[in-house]
Amino acid sequence: MSTVAVVGAQWGDEGKGKVVDYFAVQADMVIRYQGGNNAGHTVVNDLGTFALHLLPAGIFYASVDNVLGPGTVIDPEALLHEMAALRASAGLSFSRLWISERAHVVMPYHRAIDAAEETQRRDKAQGTTRRGIGPTYADKAARAGIRIGDLLAPDYLAAWLPHVVAQKNALLAAAFDLPPFACDDLLARCLAWGEQLRDHVVDTLPIVAAALHADRAILLEGQLGIMRDLDWGHYPYVTSSSPSAGGACIGAGIPPSELDHVWGVAKAYTTSVGEGPFPTEQSNAAGERLRAVGEEYGASTGRPRRCGWFDAVAVRTAVALNGIDAIALTKIDILDEFERLPICVAYQVDGRRVELAPDTRALARAEPVYEELPGWRQPTGGITQLEALPPNAQRYLRRIQEVCGVPIGLIGTGQQRAAVISLDDPFDQPGRRHR
Ligand code: GDP
Ligand code: IMO
Ligand code: MG
Repeated sequence: MSTVAVVGAQWGDEGKGKVVDYFAVQADMVIRYQGGNNAGHTVVNDLGTFALHLLPAGIFYASVDNVLGPGTVIDPEALLHEMAALRASAGLSFSRLWISERAHVVMPYHRAIDAAEETQRRDKAQGTTRRGIGPTYADKAARAGIRIGDLLAPDYLAAWLPHVVAQKNALLAAAFDLPPFACDDLLARCLAWGEQLRDHVVDTLPIVAAALHADRAILLEGQLGIMRDLDWGHYPYVTSSSPSAGGACIGAGIPPSELDHVWGVAKAYTTSVGEGPFPTEQSNAAGERLRAVGEEYGASTGRPRRCGWFDAVAVRTAVALNGIDAIALTKIDILDEFERLPICVAYQVDGRRVELAPDTRALARAEPVYEELPGWRQPTGGITQLEALPPNAQRYLRRIQEVCGVPIGLIGTGQQRAAVISLDDPFDQPGRRHR
C-alpha cells in the first residue's frame, strides 16, 4: 500500500475534508500533520454533515487509526468539545484516536494574544481565525511552549507554567492593556485536560513507523492551502505552519522517501478567507453568485469567503512546491449556471508574464491573464461518470489539466461522499517506493 499526502492547492477550503473522507475507506491510518482548529473540514456522509476542526477526516471509519501529529497545535477545550459533539451526534467512540505528546497546546493566553494582535493591527489586520494558532507556533519556535505530553506531567508543569504565564501576563499588560491569567487556574485546567485526554496521548513515532514498516495505507491530511503556507504563501497573510507536502513529512513523522503520492485538492474556481492578495477575486455579481451557489462561508468562523475565477498560477505553484501527481477538482457543479468561465493562465506583473506565484508585493500588483471558456448551463450535480458531463464541462477540465500541468484524478460533483467522478486512485498506483 501507499503513503498519500492530500494537500490544499489554493487558499484553503478546497474540499480536503471530503477528499480525505472519500479515500479513508481504503486507509489504515489518517494523520493531520499541521494547523489546529483554524481548520474547518466538511464531511457529508450517511450520519450527517460535519465540520471537523481538529479531528482527522478518517474519524468516521472505526477501523482507521486517526492521528494528530506532532506538527499540529491543539486547543484541548476545542478538541474535547468536538469529541463530545461527535459522540452525541454520530456515536463515535475515539478508541483509535492518537494524539502526539509532542503536539503543542493552544493555551487560553494564545487565543487572547491572537485576538489582541489582530485588533491592534487595525487596517493591517491579517484576518486570522483568532484561534491562537500564530502565538502557539511562535511559542513553539521560541521554546516557550506547552506540549500535550506536559499535561500529564504535573511536576514539570507546576515548575514551568509560572515562568511562561509571568511572561505572557507581562506582554498582555504592557502591549495590550489586558488583565493577567491566574497561573493556578491555568495549571488546574491543564491537568484536567490531561486527565480527559490521557487515553489518547502517545508517542506517535512507533505507531507511524510500524504502519510504514507493515506497508499500511496512510493518508496525510493537510490543513489550509499553499497560498497561506508560512514559507511560500503571501506572507504575512499566511498561517504559521506548512500545509505543503514537505510540512506533511515533518508534522506527521514520515520520512520524505516514504511519501508515495501527493494529491492536491483544488476547487473549480477560487476562494479565500482572510486578508491578502487574491488576483482573480471577483468583487462583483459573479463573485456574489459563486458565494451564494457554492455556499462559500467559512466552516470554522462563518465568515463570507472571497470568491473568484480559477487561478492556474496558484495551482501550478502548488504542483511545483508539493510534487503533486494528481488534482482532486471539487465543486464543478457550482459552475453549472455560468455562461462564460474565465481561467487565469498567467499573471502580468510590471509588464512581465509570470507563471508561478510571485511574492506578496508583486502578487498584489499581478493582473490575471484570462482565457475564457464557454459554460455548459446544464446540471452536473451527482454525476459519477466523465462521459456524462456536458462536453463544455469536459473541455473546461481538460484545459485546467493542461494549464496546471497535472492530471485530474477525481472530480467533485456534490457535497456527498458518493458525488465524485473517480479517474484515478492513489492506493491503486505503485508508490514511489515500489516503482
Ligand atoms: P476543506 O477545508 O478543504 O476541507 O474545505 P471546506 O469543508 O472548508 O469547504 C469545502 C466545501 O465544499 C464544503 O462545504 C464541502 O461540503 C463542499 N464540497 C466539497 N466538494 C464538493 C463538490 O464537489 N461539490 C459541492 N457542491 N460541494 C463540495
Ligand atoms: P482549512 O483547513 C481557510 C486563514 C485565515 C487567515 C490566515 C491565518 O479549512 O482550509 P490563522 O488563524 O491560521 O492564523 O489565520 O489563514 N485560514 C484559513 N482559511 N481555511 C482554513 O482552514 C483556514 N485556516 C486559516 O482566514 O487569513
Ligand atoms: Mg475549510
